[in-house]
Amino acid sequence: MTKRFYLETVGCQMNVLDSELVAAALLQAGFQRTNERRRADIILFNTCSVRQHAEDKIYSALGRLKHIKEQRPDKLVGVLGCMAQKDQEAILRRAPHVDLVVGPGQIGGLVAMIEELQRTKGPQVAVGLPRRGHARHAVAQFFTLYDPERVQAARSQRHRAMVRVMLGCDKFCTYCIVPSVRGPEQSRPASEITAEIRLLAEQGCREITLLGQTVNSYHTTENGRRLRLADLLERVSEVPGIRRIRFVTNYPRDMTPDLLQAVRDLPKVCPYLHVPAQSGCNPVLKRMKRGYTAEQYREMLAAIHETVPQASVTSDFIVGFCGETEEDFQATVRLTEEARFKNSFIFKYSPRPGTKAVELFPDDVPDSVKRRRNHELLAVQNRISEEDNRRFIGKTVEILVDGPSKAAAGAESETAAGKSDASTRRRADTGKLQLTGRTPCDRIVVFDGQADWIGRFARVHIESVTAVTLFGSAVSVES
Ligand code: 5AD
Ligand code: SF4
Repeated sequence: MTKRFYLETVGCQMNVLDSELVAAALLQAGFQRTNERRRADIILFNTCSVRQHAEDKIYSALGRLKHIKEQRPDKLVGVLGCMAQKDQEAILRRAPHVDLVVGPGQIGGLVAMIEELQRTKGPQVAVGLPRRGHARHAVAQFFTLYDPERVQAARSQRHRAMVRVMLGCDKFCTYCIVPSVRGPEQSRPASEITAEIRLLAEQGCREITLLGQTVNSYHTTENGRRLRLADLLERVSEVPGIRRIRFVTNYPRDMTPDLLQAVRDLPKVCPYLHVPAQSGCNPVLKRMKRGYTAEQYREMLAAIHETVPQASVTSDFIVGFCGETEEDFQATVRLTEEARFKNSFIFKYSPRPGTKAVELFPDDVPDSVKRRRNHELLAVQNRISEEDNRRFIGKTVEILVDGPSKAAAGAESETAAGKSDASTRRRADTGKLQLTGRTPCDRIVVFDGQADWIGRFARVHIESVTAVTLFGSAVSVES
């Protein structure tokens, strides 16, 4: 009998991509996907460790599965991704009914592990070497590049895909668990990346998002020549069929002039730059070990606007980081006001065991203060987003139609300015389908259309806006 798997994903786009690859491997091995947890023979969680909240949700989901597993011991439960790498065997102590613990570097072996479990009893644990106490190259071997042939059936959208260009991170910002759970920074060879994008384009993909924790730190050598992200963008631009190229997430210090010129000069590269500032206060940035000052961040913004005047810039912020005073927080508010980000993802600081911040600084900002600062910064950002969106009223924008409009539930952030607007749920009363798509500068557009427009480019005349959405009417759709 065909086995059914259920796969739930939390966390960043890197996790979404990993889940796509896991689903592809399972489909190819003859498993079937189900969206109903209770009907599944294999229940998998692809997890995130960036904040405590994300972990708590998984542990409570695992807790709820305990009695199901008692009744149906043949069902398999697996924890994949960052939590698997961070907590390792400790997951089995908290949830002894878990069968599989598989780190992000080991998910390529998942199918073999499932097969092994059918032969042997007892849990299977596959995780990478920890970074502390081990040489970089030794750890890197546990975080191998896992980007096999892209299986179209495993992708949620035919016209859009993510492509990993780098693994891991070496920046070690003091609050961040990512370098520990996703291993050392490694760039993929450019030829491998473009081959994957060619394949995706042949499958009908029109928009590519290049992924890396610090994507603009991308560098590799090819025939003795050093290649950077700007060179890679040029190569990807040459792939027939690809019409739009995005890249996330950028590290402020690596936003070099050659990259900005590439964004300006390559028409397929979208003028959209996600460059997290994290804070606008120098002592806080220093404790975070971000490697820049607020002034340097402002200079980087000025360089973006000078070279790519039409660029929209977005940011992440952490509020209530260790030692953040009211005055420090106000410096972040000022930066947000000056920078006029398109939107910002705002997070309350969550101490992560295993990071430098937990070792060095007390988590001394009360949760109530973190929450208040989160709301205050969000209100400032939303006001700016709405004001800037108003400039679009009366204009016609080009969008790639993504699908039926729905409220974007389950956004990664606790408060994602730009993600949870109830008005995006408005249903049209015309019988037509309410669709959504994005502009090159990554603004969400909602309009009425037809199901067969999905995956096509359309021009939409904007009539009204909120902080997070532009509403309009379709003027034309590409055949
Ligand atoms: N607490 C809160 N937010 C965090 N981020 C990373 N680590 C933490 C943490 N310990 C945020 C940063 C990062 C985004 C992906 O998550 O803003 O850019
Ligand atoms: Fe984490 Fe900093 Fe690396 Fe981003 S750059 S993944 S915040 S350590």
